[in-house]
Amino acid sequence: MSFYKLYQSFYREDHRSDIRQNSVAIAGGVLGDEGKGRITEELTSDFLENFPEVIHYRDNGGANAGHTVVWQGEEVHLHQIGSGIFNENCTVVLGKNMVLHPTELTSEIKQVKQILGENSMADLKISRMAALSLDTHRAFETVLKQKKYGEDGSTGRGISPAYADIIYRHPLRVRDLYSTDWQKKLKKHYKLYRDLISGLGADITQIKVKRFDEKILIDSYKRFVQRIYQAKKYLQPFVANTHKLLKQKWEKTSTPFVFEKAQGVGLDKRWGVYPDVTASDCSFSGIYSSSEGIIKPSQIEKKALVVKATYSSSVGSRNMPTEMPEEKAHKIREDAGEYGTTTGRPRDILHIDLPMLSYLAEVSDATHLVLTHMDISYSNIPIKVCVDYKKDGKSVEYRPDQKYLQQVEPEYVETPSWSGEEIKQADNLTEMPKNSKKYMKFISKALGLDMLACTYGPEKGQTISFNP
Ligand code: IMP
Repeated sequence: MSFYKLYQSFYREDHRSDIRQNSVAIAGGVLGDEGKGRITEELTSDFLENFPEVIHYRDNGGANAGHTVVWQGEEVHLHQIGSGIFNENCTVVLGKNMVLHPTELTSEIKQVKQILGENSMADLKISRMAALSLDTHRAFETVLKQKKYGEDGSTGRGISPAYADIIYRHPLRVRDLYSTDWQKKLKKHYKLYRDLISGLGADITQIKVKRFDEKILIDSYKRFVQRIYQAKKYLQPFVANTHKLLKQKWEKTSTPFVFEKAQGVGLDKRWGVYPDVTASDCSFSGIYSSSEGIIKPSQIEKKALVVKATYSSSVGSRNMPTEMPEEKAHKIREDAGEYGTTTGRPRDILHIDLPMLSYLAEVSDATHLVLTHMDISYSNIPIKVCVDYKKDGKSVEYRPDQKYLQQVEPEYVETPSWSGEEIKQADNLTEMPKNSKKYMKFISKALGLDMLACTYGPEKGQTISFNP
């Protein structure tokens, strides 16, 4: 074969400039809990007004996430399921890069069905390739924490051990639950964790792990497998070859895609405040590997970071230089209900930190911005925004390292605020308080992102979208 022919056989068209119409990805722009679930739910509902179907794709994390959605006046906390689940004509895909806890997933589906009553749930498709995150992982994480081997701030949902299984090349995947030798596989897995835990001087059968708000005893292999058996039976109809589905639908450009990332780019293990980071890929790039190369993030029409407009929150063990003094933080925490959806932990409240936010916007290759919680503003208190870091009197950049961040001194400017009550009366952009509009312009310009939407209350509809 001539070199030219050989070259032709490998030749790929350059698709870098191809934009896939009707595709929007939403990621947390800071440290999680920015209100992504509600945004992706509203985007899905909006698309369904004009299209017969929507694909709602979640690709990372697991039961550590907590996405709050208000559905017909009722507040629902979703952890593993994508928030398009309440829309009948939506297909909610739980992708390959997720780590799924079968028992909790079962409870979540049952809860959604109960809320929907007579109404139909979205078509739920669980990737056969998603990894499992089991009670064994939670037990191991608990022991690591007890023995002070890290995991300090973790949600206790066994997320990093489940991802570590993938790195060690011995994960259990959803498809393993339906193989003929599934019991053998689970037994091998249980034994591995029993031995790891006993090597650390503990007994797996005696460890209690988190199950929503309760704690359950791991107990014997028999009890462990019984719990999984119930879930495996229940979940079977939802398990699918999502690879094929994604390929078909992505190529059909008339089907809208909404991508719901979990956590936030500031929790990503590469870009987050190391070491208190999560194990999954929290940036848009994770969509590429989770879809096995079908969906290139560069093709997604809009990649929006969600950021709380006037403050940020942090839950975990990190110490941020922009943390607010407690008396100020307390008011915001109570007014905005800043307690962890998954863990109930009170969140730390931080000033808006432009060095960190612009770094996260840059590394995640975002194009758009959603500002949430616009109603958390007090007309008599200016908004303090960190615009620079100083170290030894000199300007320094943001770096994703806890030790480094403890040495920097934030520099602030104060910007005029507006009344949180007044903004709730606005029906459109024109009616929003003047200072709130100026503020949005300032933040979006500073981050180099176009505004996609803003929200000013927890209810569906308390959203203003900025049409391009
Ligand atoms: P893990 O994901 O449970 O391993 O926890 C690692 C870090 O990520 C901890 O600081 C958690 O508090 C944080 N984290 C994980 N998921 C979320 C989330 O959905 N919102 C906010 N923080 C999270």
